[in-house]
Amino acid sequence: MKKILLIENHLHLYKRENSKIWQIKLKLPNKKALRISSKSSILEDAKQIAIQKYDLINLKISNNKDIKIKKKHPIKTTHLINSKKLSKKEIEYLIKESYKYIKFNKQKIKKNKILEGRTIFNLFFEDSTRTRTSFEVAAKRLGADLINVALKDSSINKGETLLDTITTINSMDPDVLIVRHPEEGISEKISKLVKSCVINAGDGSREHPTQALLDALTIKKKFGSFKNLRIAICGDIMHSRVARSNIEILSKLGSNINIIGPKEWIPNDIKNLEVNIYNNMKEGLKGCDIVMMLRIQKERIVEKIMPNEKKYFNQFGLDYKKLAYAKKNAFVMHPGPMNRGVEIESKLADDITRSLIQEQVAMGVAIRMACLEILISNKDIYGT
Ligand code: CP
Repeated sequence: MKKILLIENHLHLYKRENSKIWQIKLKLPNKKALRISSKSSILEDAKQIAIQKYDLINLKISNNKDIKIKKKHPIKTTHLINSKKLSKKEIEYLIKESYKYIKFNKQKIKKNKILEGRTIFNLFFEDSTRTRTSFEVAAKRLGADLINVALKDSSINKGETLLDTITTINSMDPDVLIVRHPEEGISEKISKLVKSCVINAGDGSREHPTQALLDALTIKKKFGSFKNLRIAICGDIMHSRVARSNIEILSKLGSNINIIGPKEWIPNDIKNLEVNIYNNMKEGLKGCDIVMMLRIQKERIVEKIMPNEKKYFNQFGLDYKKLAYAKKNAFVMHPGPMNRGVEIESKLADDITRSLIQEQVAMGVAIRMACLEILISNKDIYGT
């Protein structure tokens, strides 16, 4: 009998005498061995089929064992709108619950059924790449149906009001609405009108809670703890919802926050928070473990004059030289989208020994999976 080992002790291919077809023997710990025909006489095809079967069976077991929709979570909310409303314990719980999805997202086959039959709408009234696609990936990996409403082609162009659009979608009985809009506080208003859960995916310069949660998850994974960490948030603080949500969440978790930016871009509401404010990168980066760079939010700087980009980069853009003002092994973060050469040096942004930017994107999927699972589970129990 011809025998080929694919995964030690777990997966073999073999051919019986007088048969051209490869057979698969699959043995998982504490399970009976399974023998399945690959239905192929070609070794490479049979290998591929065997690996697919192995992944599928592994996934089935992990679905049954590890990831089940919980009945009750210590966090009871059905909306995720303001970071301010999340307690330290709730943030820690959301982070903890994301870890199973980090593991899940490393599997070859990333499909679960825990949100099968659930309907989620992406309502993006402002441009997005990361947040919109990340929610779409998260929802689909959990088995939900996600509808991207093409708002640029919607009846809003024919004069329909936002309220009418929302009322129309609400009548389709969705489970979650994910809303990005330039108006501050709009997600909160929508949550009072609809029967579904509402997630704020960015409202003007105010809040972007899932961005701050994914940043916190990235930091937790890298450093293990938030205690004694010093995090610099640098750049256009005035127009940044990411800055506001991150200050709220990271300081609640126990980190010290340094805010660095031009004087005219440090707003009064930030000055009243428990942060240290600097207008100079050399001073502000001293002792920092993480340097979080922000994009100049050109779309919100309508009436004011934009700074000269070269001058801005020299003063506030992050390059290797300025990064050396921080701790020796400090890491760089950026929520994206990046303006290379304006707030960050291109080479540094791509340097995976210093930059966590791609890791932030991966963590975004995991945290959003946890958020969707928890909010929908809460909606089933408590209603909205
Ligand atoms: N970080 C972030 O919100 O990116 P997008 O605008 O691409 O969604």
